[in-house]
Amino acid sequence: MSFTIAIDGPAAAGKGTISRAVSEHFNFAHLDTGLLYRAVGARMLGGEDPTRAAETLEITDLERDDLRSPEVAQAASKVAVIAAVRAALVDFQRAFARRSGGAVMDGRDIGTVICPEAEVKIFVTASAEVRATRRFLELTGKGSVGTLDEVRARDERDMTRVEAPLKPADDAVLIDTTTLGVDEAVAQVLALVQARLDG
Ligand code: CDP
Repeated sequence: MSFTIAIDGPAAAGKGTISRAVSEHFNFAHLDTGLLYRAVGARMLGGEDPTRAAETLEITDLERDDLRSPEVAQAASKVAVIAAVRAALVDFQRAFARRSGGAVMDGRDIGTVICPEAEVKIFVTASAEVRATRRFLELTGKGSVGTLDEVRARDERDMTRVEAPLKPADDAVLIDTTTLGVDEAVAQVLALVQARLDG
């Protein structure tokens, strides 16, 4: 059985947390697609051409320990505007999404471009202030500080790009985590998925 759950949204809205909880609950595989762009961005910072990096990406690139740094985050959103970079990453993502046993994919364009046929599509949002503060705390907690402006710059780049801009699919369910706790947000998504599995 293949069953795809697409979870899109801007930085620090809660996609990652919700995706991990949902994949654990249903025992589905989880792909954080942002890691692909971060890995390409990291290789670009190392001097490589981003398109070539995307075309030759390997699993070990996804295991680098610098992928969560603010520098790599900015580089990721810069390589993510390049059509050839995005195109090089499509097949891997689609194959992962349709693997048997179910998949949770989190990113920016899963419901709109990568998996428009996903069984469940969620778009997770939160106010810009809440997201910026969350990400700032997250980064300082990990010992590497990114500025609030950097998070905003990345969101702006993601929403205004020509290729696969960040936006909800027409049939996505919106979940706003500005005031919703993680547990409530997860419960809402679990209920949506369960209803689709049942019916
Ligand atoms: O963790 P966070 O939500 O801050 O970012 P991420 O999901 O790791 O993604 C890093 C960057 O990769 C984003 O700012 C996007 O520019 C890009 N990205 C994308 O274009 N499409 C995706 N499906 C996932 C990430």
